[in-house]
Amino acid sequence: MAIRPILTAPDPRLREVSKPVGQVDEALRELMDDMLETMYDAPGIGLAAIQIGVPQRVIVMDLAGEDEEPAPLYFVNPEILDPSEEKKPYEEGCLSVPDYYDEVERPARCRVKYLDYHGAEQILEAEGMLAVCIQHEMDHLEGVLFIDYLSRLKRERVLKKLKKEQRLAAAS
Ligand code: NI
Repeated sequence: MAIRPILTAPDPRLREVSKPVGQVDEALRELMDDMLETMYDAPGIGLAAIQIGVPQRVIVMDLAGEDEEPAPLYFVNPEILDPSEEKKPYEEGCLSVPDYYDEVERPARCRVKYLDYHGAEQILEAEGMLAVCIQHEMDHLEGVLFIDYLSRLKRERVLKKLKKEQRLAAAS
């Protein structure tokens, strides 16, 4: 396993639409292992493959609390089914938009159909933080970031700050 660098906005690769995975094989499991290690190291609760520059439809998540056993989830070629009419606001953050949090409204519940770590088809009922997180990560597969739901003014302010930080980091 290896920790890979996480891309941060406005890196144009984060805007790519990820491609479906053909087969869940050893190489893909290695990618998922790396993604999980990278996510734990960050630390974060969800990561899409494109966030480490791999445009494939793969997501890892772990919503276990700090004093709970790790509970990793792996989603290959996930699809959202039956998003609820009811929406809920939730404060989101993103490893690709460091140090910024804001409220986004999304369907409160949905089902997710996906292939798991072993390539078996699964359907998961999601609500609460699980529903928020899976929908946030699914957006990454379409090249969408949570800041895209904010006002243009807010989004531009965030991106300007990130660009400035990246310039400073590159210069130091
Ligand atoms: Ni994110």
